[in-house]
Amino acid sequence: MPSFVPLSGYQEYPVEEMRRRAQEYNREMQRRRTVRQFSDRPVPKEIIAAAIGTAGSAPSGAHRQPWHFVAVSDPAVKHRIRVEAERAEQEFYRTAPAAWLEALEPLGTDQHKPYLETAPWLIAIFAERYRVGEDEGRSVNYYVQESVGIATGFLIGALHHAGLATLTHTPSPMGFLNQVLDRPANEKAFLLLVVGYPAPDAAVPDIRRKPVAEILSWRESAPPSSRRPPASRQDR
Ligand SMILES: Cc1cc2nc3c(=O)[nH]c(=O)nc-3n(C[C@H](O)[C@H](O)[C@H](O)COP(=O)(O)O)c2cc1C
Repeated sequence: MPSFVPLSGYQEYPVEEMRRRAQEYNREMQRRRTVRQFSDRPVPKEIIAAAIGTAGSAPSGAHRQPWHFVAVSDPAVKHRIRVEAERAEQEFYRTAPAAWLEALEPLGTDQHKPYLETAPWLIAIFAERYRVGEDEGRSVNYYVQESVGIATGFLIGALHHAGLATLTHTPSPMGFLNQVLDRPANEKAFLLLVVGYPAPDAAVPDIRRKPVAEILSWRESAPPSSRRPPASRQDR
């Protein structure tokens, strides 16, 4: 039997304020960059916990919340992750299709991942492919990739909003994260987020984002003026 409560969290704003808020948020998010040089300055764990709370507020297919986050600051664990990630990346850069390597060229990335040890936090994100019940019975989750992708977007946004830098890292393959972090077989490593302050001399690739006009098209009802017949026909 579904149970309902009144919608209490919704907040409406006057249109002018909505416009301002939308533009301000856009400006804030446009400042976000993927950083690949991190400082080792510590970041309090409550900030990480609050950002993961934000990630957990994401919508999910059938409300299955098919995600798990492991926040790592232990240097020994970070070291193991770096060793495994660099091993995977070495193979990737040796065998990846030329077109993929060409696409990565402007980013200047390679198999060396020192930031996996320098940054104060690594957040490993796992996608729960299916649930395992008490009796070992399995039940499927729905739209797992989409749900975990949205939660990860929320997390990146929350960390940026808090004043931290992130790197979205996808070592390929990344199954080693299950072993290193002791996660069960029903969870699939989704990605690894490197989190911290940027190094004082951090530099980022000089790349451009597509302007809104290029990524947005409209299908609006025609404005009233264009619905009127042309003047010559009106005369008849
Ligand atoms: C799904 C995904 C996987 C990524 N994997 C890597 C990665 O393994 N290594 C890396 O250096 N950057 C990785 N990135 C970061 C992208 O290269 C970066 O977002 C892109 O170049 C745009 O730069 P910006 O985030 O500063 O706007 C990844 C980003 C996404 C969304």
